[in-house]
Amino acid sequence: MKKIVCKNYDEMSKEGAKIIAEQIAKKPDSVLGLATGSTPIGLYKCLRDDNVDFSKVSTYNLDEYYPISKTNDQSYQYFMDDNLFNHVTVKSMDIPNGEAKDAQAECRRYDEAIENAGGIDLQLLGLGPNGHIGFNEPDDQLSVGTHLVELTQSTIDANARFFASADEVPRHALTLGMGGIMKAKKILVVANGKGKADVVKKMFSGVIDTHVPATLLQLHNDVTVIVDEEANSAE
Ligand code: F6R
Repeated sequence: MKKIVCKNYDEMSKEGAKIIAEQIAKKPDSVLGLATGSTPIGLYKCLRDDNVDFSKVSTYNLDEYYPISKTNDQSYQYFMDDNLFNHVTVKSMDIPNGEAKDAQAECRRYDEAIENAGGIDLQLLGLGPNGHIGFNEPDDQLSVGTHLVELTQSTIDANARFFASADEVPRHALTLGMGGIMKAKKILVVANGKGKADVVKKMFSGVIDTHVPATLLQLHNDVTVIVDEEANSAE
């Protein structure tokens, strides 16, 4: 795994956007796996400002709350529209459907759609302070395929900042599984702030632990982790 240490959030965002722009320049019809959350907001802004041409790019998002309406301003669909899709033209985009009646069928549909697209060329990831990637939460066992997950209290608390109160955070989500993430040809992780420092340290420890799902990325042979100085500060 390669680690790039940047001075601050803005540099991390620029560096991350550069890697995505290079991927698209090299393969204009790339299949991108995208993430939401606070970390990639600056990266999406850089891509918009640089007028990167997404016209042949297909995108698949990591996860979505369940159930949630696409028009809810806390849905990941809304986030992606706001941060990227309302500003750039992509060939196609797909996000697990938080409105699906049958969650299991939606998970199967999502895995098949990614496979039919030829798999993900580059997967962007943020890190949960508890080490989750997507919504693969710390556990004794992790799932391979897209699945319905119950969010942990720590994730509910971490995401409460986006809602009026913690009570309003949905308790479930649909997420790409660890297999879906690990099958991506390249993985790009972005992390900033002290709250991510312990997880970043564990990601480079040489030990994998299902209770820190991000440590499994050590089994992938093309991972770039871009951190700011604070996220790189764990002793
Ligand atoms: C988002 C996602 C999550 C976030 C993680 C970090 O699609 O899957 O794993 O990447 O919770 O969130 P932030 O960036 O808000 O700290």
